[in-house]
Amino acid sequence: NNKVILDVDTGVDDALGLLLAIRSGQMDLLGVTTANGNVSLEQATVNTCKILQLAGAEHIPVVKGADRPIKRSTYFEHRVHGTDGLGGALKDMPVRKQPEDGHAVDFIIDQVRRHPGEVTLVMTAPLTNLALAVTKDPELVRLVKEVIVMGGAVQTFGNVTPTAEYNMYVDPEAAKLVFQAGFASLTLVGLDVTRKALLTEAHIASLGDSALACYVRESTGDYMQRYYERNGVRACALHDPLAVGVALNRELVLTKPYYVDVETRSELCDGQTVCDFQNRLSREPNVHVCLDVAADEFLRMFTTVLRG
Ligand code: BDR
Ligand code: CA
Repeated sequence: NNKVILDVDTGVDDALGLLLAIRSGQMDLLGVTTANGNVSLEQATVNTCKILQLAGAEHIPVVKGADRPIKRSTYFEHRVHGTDGLGGALKDMPVRKQPEDGHAVDFIIDQVRRHPGEVTLVMTAPLTNLALAVTKDPELVRLVKEVIVMGGAVQTFGNVTPTAEYNMYVDPEAAKLVFQAGFASLTLVGLDVTRKALLTEAHIASLGDSALACYVRESTGDYMQRYYERNGVRACALHDPLAVGVALNRELVLTKPYYVDVETRSELCDGQTVCDFQNRLSREPNVHVCLDVAADEFLRMFTTVLRG
């Protein structure tokens, strides 16, 4: 099994990504690192611990990371994920599991150094933790096996501003640093593909009545409602789970190598991922950009795994 560290800001879809990763049984999850993002670092950490409890995976270490972006203020996404980040689900669950001592940045560095060339980093939060880790230990770049990032939008519109996707928007300086760090393999799973990975009520019904299925139904209720108000269909995009899905099976997505950078100095476009499709900047490609996804196949994977 692949050695993986998942970096999350546990909102509704991060939680589903975590469940997919754990229940797939096909990942050696070294740990889950948390970051400020959809909710505060504290809340994201509590949510992550609850999800591990729900999945019967309390043995997996959780390590807290950055409580704010590198330069900017926090920007929570309570409208999408609810004030608690889990759409109101698990609110009465007692939290037994506690995070480990230490900082996510040191955990990432330590694990990658222990397993050189073997660790895949799946990032489904703003990229603050990884940017800080690479700054602290620049050699990380050649010791990591690969990085898979949920973030950005290269051919489509943003979901916070007209041009920016949330994870990029919250900490564009971190994203820029990560993209320019020189990782051997960095895959960007952006809104171009995650918006096609739609979970519908029929999918949820197909999960049955297990505690896990009830959790999925409850946590996605408001999330689906919001999607319905915008798009007229009751569904929700599985942004973060798709990044996990790509870590499980590369064949789910069509990628092409391009040079990608992130805008950090624009009034209208901060956080925009700029993809140099025509190589106008004559730069070496630094990102495997996802351009298409076998959405049905991914949804089949997701529902099969969560059905257990
Ligand atoms: C991303 O932003 C967050 O709100 C989600 O958890 C996901 O990581 C989607 O743009
Ligand atoms: Ca997320």
